[in-house]
Amino acid sequence: MTQRTVIVTGANSGIGKETAVALASQGDRVVIACRNPDRSAAALAEIRERSGGSVESVPLDLASFASVRAAAASITDRFDRVDVLVNNAGLVLSKRAVTEDGFEMTFGVNHLGPFLFTTLLHDLLAAAGNARVVTVASEAHFFAVGGLPWDDLQAVRFYNVWLTYGRSKLANILFTQELARRWASDGVVASSVHPGIVASNFAADGDTSTFMSTGLRLLKPMTRTPSQGADTSVWLATAEPGGDPTRSGTYWSSRRPGRLAPWARREVDGARLWTLSEELIATSS
Ligand SMILES: NC(=O)c1ccc[n+]([C@@H]2O[C@H](COP(=O)([O-])OP(=O)(O)OC[C@H]3O[C@@H](n4cnc5c(N)ncnc54)[C@H](OP(=O)(O)O)[C@@H]3O)[C@@H](O)[C@H]2O)c1
Repeated sequence: MTQRTVIVTGANSGIGKETAVALASQGDRVVIACRNPDRSAAALAEIRERSGGSVESVPLDLASFASVRAAAASITDRFDRVDVLVNNAGLVLSKRAVTEDGFEMTFGVNHLGPFLFTTLLHDLLAAAGNARVVTVASEAHFFAVGGLPWDDLQAVRFYNVWLTYGRSKLANILFTQELARRWASDGVVASSVHPGIVASNFAADGDTSTFMSTGLRLLKPMTRTPSQGADTSVWLATAEPGGDPTRSGTYWSSRRPGRLAPWARREVDGARLWTLSEELIATSS
């Protein structure tokens, strides 16, 4: 059997690292896509050591369209197909910041960067014939009450950390549903995932206020391990064709269809977000 090529973003830490270890352990060639060279090198060594598998890396900063394009170009040079893309990287920020291209950072890193990265990899994913795109979303999409704020997507008029994060995770779910519709004929299966509340570096590495990161640390005894958090992503990435987990467009939690907020079920919003994302990226280049 041909070795599969799998890309995992944000694999230097937390859920992404455990996803990479699990997939490399079972024989996939794993490419970790990370923004920080030192953390990426350390993770590469650790994932190789723990999995005994084939692991490579590519630099990827989702806050920079130039970096996203360079990463996609490097992958296109190295491989003729991509079997699995796990859009795992994400952040939450207590204060509004902007990406290199001028977009609100949470929306930019959690949605626009992965959107561009995925669409640039379209041909390689289609070449696999039965590719999987797994995007790590969150139950936090419930915070995005009413849906995406189309007239203030960049949170210029109003910024709230969890509202903005929730909206970015809603965008992950809508993006997955629209991807499933658009790329069905390419054999691509798209899934979004809630990994559970996971004790990782999430919101604990200076991205958020001391109050929030302390609160999350206090929750740690009740949380899942990163390996448990990776379980559903790995299950989706490895599912045999035709089974339940290959129902494209589905949002999963603990290997079951997850509970969706009403505003995460609007087909029209998925289509609108896709077109708008293309326009935003085009206007910035
Ligand atoms: N932990 C939870 O309870 C929880 C719950 C629901 C959903 N999630 C989602 O799970 C995913 C993984 O989070 P985690 O819990 O494993 O947190 P984590 O340990 O903080 O890992 C997040 C990863 O994203 C990377 N990242 C952040 N900004 C990036 C950028 N601009 N470009 C490229 N990579 C970037 C980080 O890289 P650096 O190390 O360089 O910062 C890190 O590798 C996220 O999408 C998160 O929203 C987490």
